[in-house]
Amino acid sequence: MEYVTLNNGIKCPAVGIGTFMLAPADAERSVREALKMGYSLVDTANAYVNERACGRGIKASGINRDEVFLSTKLWPSEYENPKAVDETLARLGVDYVDLLYIHQPAGNWLAGYRQLEKAYREGKAKSIGISNFEGKYIDELQTKWEIVPQFIQVEAHPYFTQKDLRKTLDKYDIKLMSWYPLGHGDKSLINEPVFAKLGEKYGKSPAQIILRWHTQMGFVVIPGSKNTDHIKDNLNILDFTLTDEEMAEIAKLDKDQRYYHRTDEQLVQFAAWHPQFEK
Ligand SMILES: NC(=O)c1ccc[n+]([C@@H]2O[C@H](COP(=O)([O-])OP(=O)(O)OC[C@H]3O[C@@H](n4cnc5c(N)ncnc54)[C@H](OP(=O)(O)O)[C@@H]3O)[C@@H](O)[C@H]2O)c1
Repeated sequence: MEYVTLNNGIKCPAVGIGTFMLAPADAERSVREALKMGYSLVDTANAYVNERACGRGIKASGINRDEVFLSTKLWPSEYENPKAVDETLARLGVDYVDLLYIHQPAGNWLAGYRQLEKAYREGKAKSIGISNFEGKYIDELQTKWEIVPQFIQVEAHPYFTQKDLRKTLDKYDIKLMSWYPLGHGDKSLINEPVFAKLGEKYGKSPAQIILRWHTQMGFVVIPGSKNTDHIKDNLNILDFTLTDEEMAEIAKLDKDQRYYHRTDEQLVQFAAWHPQFEK
């Protein structure tokens, strides 16, 4: 495994498994199988309504808790719930998480960030992060944070490399965790000829070339999958290195183009939505 070192000295695996849109049974199986294969990073969220399942998957894998880097996210409806962190830990079946995000800059997000800082001080979150806080949101947070976050989780892939945001991240040594690393499975990205060409050279699939590009960009990557073959492939990306010329060739694909465009109305809806947690 390769690791990134966070601004508080903690090490985070460069590759993990994402669980967005995985129903509980799929999340439990994907997490269990991934950990058995050698993964050590799991990303979930209050909003995925599969935290209990991820916790069950971790236990069923037989891997020790301290060998798993577990990441989850508080949803905006929880930002003003003083028990949000404890309830999240209880759902996961753990007494700390390795990384705790606030998921969206919606509702009273500063109250949410203060909960992260408190959890960090109490040892309930070993590192903290912000998710979807590009632009004016990270600008405002910078004037208010007491603890600099270790991570930001945002959309990133070869079509959208977060060039502007990375200037701020470099200043504070905040690491980027890519969501939609494979374009959420978009065929036009995966089928870009450059990935087939490099895949041929290195004996890898186009998806594996894309994931290796992320890690060489310094991004932590958490591809989502419920397909055991894909889960295996997505970890098997660390035994080759793209050359500087190949990285430059991939850089030409950058169109500054997101797949997901969030609106201000959606932020209002996010704040009003309460996940129906698994019982
Ligand atoms: N913070 C946020 O707001 C936010 C938003 C979105 C996502 N996320 C996080 O980021 C993670 C990754 O995003 P994502 O899962 O939406 O998108 P993604 O990882 O870009 O793509 C997932 C899709 O790619 C397919 N896939 C996975 N591995 C593949 C491979 N080796 N070859 C071909 N296809 C493959 C999967 O299908 P199969 O199941 O068939 O493999 C699935 O349809 C999420 O799971 C979640 O943890 C966070």
